[in-house]
Amino acid sequence: MERSTVTFFLFLIITGAAIGDPLEMMVGNLGDSLSVPCRSIVGNETLSVVSWLKDGGVVASQNLSVVQTPSDDKRLSITKEGSLNIAGLLLIDEGIYICNYSSLDHKTETQMGIQLLIAGGPTNVRTEVTPVAALPNGTLFVQKDSAVSFNCSSNSYPSQTLSWVFQDLESNSSVLASSNKSPLELHVSSIQSSNQGTYSCIAQNTLSNQTASKSTLLLVYYTPDRHPECSWVMGNDSSHLLLNCSWHGSYPLPTLQWEEVLGADRSKPPVLNVSMTTESLVATLNRSELYDGQTLQCTGQNQMLRSQPRFCSVTLKAPLPKGVTLLTALEGGNATLTCSEANSTPVAKTSWRRRTSNSQIQEVVPSAKYIVSDLGPEFTLKIVNISKFDEGVYLCRSENTLMVKELEFLLTVESSVSYAGGVVGVFIAMLIIGVGIAVGVSAYRNRDRICLGKIIPFMEEERHDVFHLVESDDEEIFSEPVARSIAAATNGHATSIVQIHRIPSSDHEDLGTTDTEVEETSKPPEQELVTF
Ligand SMILES: *[C@@H]1O[C@H](CO)[C@@H](O)[C@H](O)[C@H]1NC(C)=O
Ligand SMILES: *[C@@H]1O[C@H](CO)[C@@H](O)[C@H](O)[C@H]1NC(C)=O
Ligand SMILES: *[C@@H]1O[C@H](CO)[C@@H](O)[C@H](O)[C@H]1NC(C)=O
Ligand SMILES: *[C@@H]1O[C@H](CO)[C@@H](O)[C@H](O)[C@H]1NC(C)=O
Ligand SMILES: *[C@@H]1O[C@H](CO)[C@@H](O)[C@H](O)[C@H]1NC(C)=O
Ligand SMILES: *[C@@H]1O[C@H](CO)[C@@H](O)[C@H](O)[C@H]1NC(C)=O
Ligand SMILES: *[C@@H]1O[C@H](CO)[C@@H](O)[C@H](O)[C@H]1NC(C)=O
Ligand SMILES: *[C@@H]1O[C@H](CO)[C@@H](O)[C@H](O)[C@H]1NC(C)=O
Ligand SMILES: *[C@@H]1O[C@H](CO)[C@@H](O)[C@H](O)[C@H]1NC(C)=O
Ligand SMILES: *[C@@H]1O[C@H](CO)[C@@H](O)[C@H](O)[C@H]1NC(C)=O
Ligand SMILES: *[C@@H]1O[C@H](CO)[C@@H](O)[C@H](O)[C@H]1NC(C)=O
Ligand SMILES: *[C@@H]1O[C@H](CO)[C@@H](O)[C@H](O)[C@H]1NC(C)=O
Repeated sequence: MERSTVTFFLFLIITGAAIGDPLEMMVGNLGDSLSVPCRSIVGNETLSVVSWLKDGGVVASQNLSVVQTPSDDKRLSITKEGSLNIAGLLLIDEGIYICNYSSLDHKTETQMGIQLLIAGGPTNVRTEVTPVAALPNGTLFVQKDSAVSFNCSSNSYPSQTLSWVFQDLESNSSVLASSNKSPLELHVSSIQSSNQGTYSCIAQNTLSNQTASKSTLLLVYYTPDRHPECSWVMGNDSSHLLLNCSWHGSYPLPTLQWEEVLGADRSKPPVLNVSMTTESLVATLNRSELYDGQTLQCTGQNQMLRSQPRFCSVTLKAPLPKGVTLLTALEGGNATLTCSEANSTPVAKTSWRRRTSNSQIQEVVPSAKYIVSDLGPEFTLKIVNISKFDEGVYLCRSENTLMVKELEFLLTVESSVSYAGGVVGVFIAMLIIGVGIAVGVSAYRNRDRICLGKIIPFMEEERHDVFHLVESDDEEIFSEPVARSIAAATNGHATSIVQIHRIPSSDHEDLGTTDTEVEETSKPPEQELVTF
């Protein structure tokens, strides 16, 4: 502002132009060549003398074809059209230029001044992104969530505007920061995947509008917190093992490697050693390459994890069916065979088979007769309505990619008749003992009333109170009743007589036997056991 005011007044002094006339302005870049035109010369006029004045002093003049430069500045020349050519512009070339010429007819004209401004730059644009690492091809990458600083500087004369411009992978651009000062710093406290793209620092000379920029591609890499996931299944034909290692969420794509973990014996090469840059790596092995206890490992790696790869692994285990193998079932009932297969890796295919009478193996086909269930490690075979035919050997067959293992179950069937017979025998024995005890106890408790009932009709007729006492367990046995007068009514009507009967123990036993027979006929044991 200051400069233009000064030059403006200078211009007024020199030209005497009216206040308010616009001063023509020219901008030249440092080092460039520039031609300042002598505006008022009409195309084909024959010039005699042209002189160029800068800031009031003559810098170059030409009389016909002879050019004179008082300062002997070789950079200055005057064209035949009267323009002043300046080669290799310097800052000192800034100023107001006026051309003064005379034509052959001695007409003299002085044109309006042209202000020449010199612009420099922008040059030497430097960018710095910290902290980052570089890929082998030089591309910068940074870990997601880290703090990143962008710094840009540039040289410009007389002034410049610096901007950080971001362009994402979809080529959408946005200006992140802009300033007239150098350096321009930009801080991102937690960089995200959306911040991945090209960062350009653009410097623009405020005078010449010339721009210069420097771009940097910044990749934001990410490693998932979790480990790769290993999974393993049997192939269609049981003899192939399919290994699947997947590790999602890593950017860039991770390198996955399936490898056999070799034990102490490293004489043989590993049966498995494949690697690929992918999110999911599948490997297939066949039975001949596998053994019990073999460990297969998947390693996941990416740029961010150079020294600490992540793993998952599988250790193969042969099937091992377990269960209670000796079973007895009752004819007409159900039998349940339970086989547990918790060991096998990969998960085995477990099925039931039966060895027939002629030693052939038959697959047990699920039906109303054979109810098969598969609850995780528990496999059951329920044989419904057992008959003697069902007796024999059943096999719980477990197969995985390593091998086949079979567990033999032996089922014995007991006929319901022999079973019922046994039950009846036990029942009768229990009954005899029970009744014996019951009779004995009740007889003892009622020993003073046993005989009374037989005397009562007589007693009522005779109006005598007679008591019969039965003492079966007395040692003495009386064949004749012994009567004793206990009490006699004073009026002579009523007499109380107590008769003590000594009953032989054989009588008592007869009574007991009779009772038992009654019990048996009222509850036929055969029938009840059949319904059991
Ligand atoms: C100068 O130019 C004008 C217009 O362009 C033309 O009419 C005139 O003849 C020219 N004179 C000479 C001497 O070439
Ligand atoms: C230009 O040169 C001519 C002839 O050489 C001379 O007569 C004339 O005076 C010179 N004019 C000026 C301004 O030097
Ligand atoms: C322009 O040139 C003529 C002739 O050479 C001279 O008389 C006149 O003073 C000059 N004008 C200026 C402003 O220098
Ligand atoms: C460098 O490698 C990265 C990742 O492979 C790629 O995105 C980028 O375009 C490469 N840069 C150059 C200059 O080849
Ligand atoms: C930015 O860059 C300039 C010039 O290269 C340097 O002077 C300045 O210290 C840098 N700032 C930071 C924060 O690195
Ligand atoms: C990028 O530009 C496209 C097309 O102009 C637009 O559809 C899209 O939403 C933009 N994406 C962002 C993140 O601004
Ligand atoms: C620079 O750009 C501004 C705005 O676009 C314009 O007014 C000005 O004339 C330009 N300057 C030059 C030297 O091109
Ligand atoms: C497994 O069986 C399915 C269906 O029978 C078939 O589509 C698939 O290709 C088979 N896979 C292999 C590896 O043999
Ligand atoms: C491997 O596992 C991944 C993730 O569980 C799944 O998306 C992919 O389909 C699997 N590949 C095969 C061949 O089973
Ligand atoms: C597995 O293969 C890689 C190259 O693909 C090799 O460097 C490595 O030594 C191999 N591992 C074994 C145990 O042979
Ligand atoms: C099992 O794999 C080995 C090695 O890859 C191969 O030599 C053999 O033929 C394969 N056997 C079967 C049955 O696929
Ligand atoms: C035997 O199993 C069948 C079918 O589950 C069932 O209906 C029946 O009641 C079972 N019989 C016995 C005695 O448990």
